[in-house]
Amino acid sequence: MFNFRSSLALIIALAASAVMASPLNVTSPKNSAPTTSNTTVVDNKGVISVFWHVITANDTREGGNLPVSLLYDQVKDLNHLYRDTGFSFVLAEYGYHRNEDWFNENDPTRTMMYEWQTKTPFTPKEKAEGLETKEFYDLNVYTRNIPNPLILGDSPFAAEGFIDRTDGVHIDYIATTPGAVTLAHEVGHWMGLLHVFEFECENEGDGLTDTLMQKVPPQSIIMSCEPRVACNGTTFLPNNVMDYAGDDCAREFTPQQRALMRENMIKLRHFKPGPVFN
Ligand SMILES: *[C@@H]1O[C@H](CO)[C@@H](O)[C@H](O)[C@H]1NC(C)=O
Ligand SMILES: *[C@@H]1O[C@H](CO)[C@@H](O)[C@H](O)[C@H]1NC(C)=O
Ligand SMILES: *[C@@H]1O[C@H](CO)[C@@H](O)[C@H](O)[C@H]1NC(C)=O
Ligand SMILES: *[C@@H]1O[C@H](CO)[C@@H](O)[C@H](O)[C@H]1NC(C)=O
Ligand SMILES: [Zn+2]
Repeated sequence: MFNFRSSLALIIALAASAVMASPLNVTSPKNSAPTTSNTTVVDNKGVISVFWHVITANDTREGGNLPVSLLYDQVKDLNHLYRDTGFSFVLAEYGYHRNEDWFNENDPTRTMMYEWQTKTPFTPKEKAEGLETKEFYDLNVYTRNIPNPLILGDSPFAAEGFIDRTDGVHIDYIATTPGAVTLAHEVGHWMGLLHVFEFECENEGDGLTDTLMQKVPPQSIIMSCEPRVACNGTTFLPNNVMDYAGDDCAREFTPQQRALMRENMIKLRHFKPGPVFN
């Protein structure tokens, strides 16, 4: 959940934050879905296509070999947590890539898989046409082993000028248990949300006025649902996806977070409603 690549983008992101966006006016996808698509997603939402890359060391679970049903379950969980955001997610494609070096890559800039990642994935249309472009509103998810025990995932941070060709969230394969908040949290960064404790008690903290300002939670209560103390002294129970709180309680986005996600998706990721698979 810590993010080295993102941290450079924080200041710039703040400058652009917190302008309330009008709700998305989106229609159901008109185009036909790809063969692996699951059409059970809610209509009339901003549908984001998920391209899931399972990076493995070998064919065992410890080697990152996650079953396909788990990928669908993760996307279902993601849809649940994003139910009020105006977005829903559909698993458009998945692929398995066996490479032990990539699986265990510890460099947050991902030197070893960088080039491959700049080429993955494309929508089927782009693949067919051999285009070297990428739609930045497609969500690429990479599961693998993240060797640092303090990090469950990381994500590029949506901010002006900071979306690069390796765009996609990385999740430790162990953080894909049912109900795990890790994917939703990283997707929050991918949509340009900061941690609720970002900048601690300075300025507006995360730039939003409807999240309580707080210091970075102490190690002892990270990933737990223990009460927190806000900068103004109020004790509260953590419930925000963008906190470092437990899976059982980190279940909510605030209205301003939801509005900022919509604004960022349109402004920074040039989101267009519906999958683009015609
Ligand atoms: C919103 O969608 C409706 C149809 O569903 C359309 O009539 C209207 O023009 C749209 N508004 C904008 C701002 O696109
Ligand atoms: C759709 O998703 C459900 C679980 O959410 C899964 O059981 C089902 O196999 C999926 N359908 C297809 C066609 O992949
Ligand atoms: C599979 O890969 C994991 C992670 O590198 C390793 O711990 C495990 O021993 C490997 N299992 C086999 C059967 O090679
Ligand atoms: C702290 O801020 C929250 C949110 O604005 C407010 O509800 C609460 O009353 C404040 N507590 C104190 C002690 O000022
Ligand atoms: Zn984070």
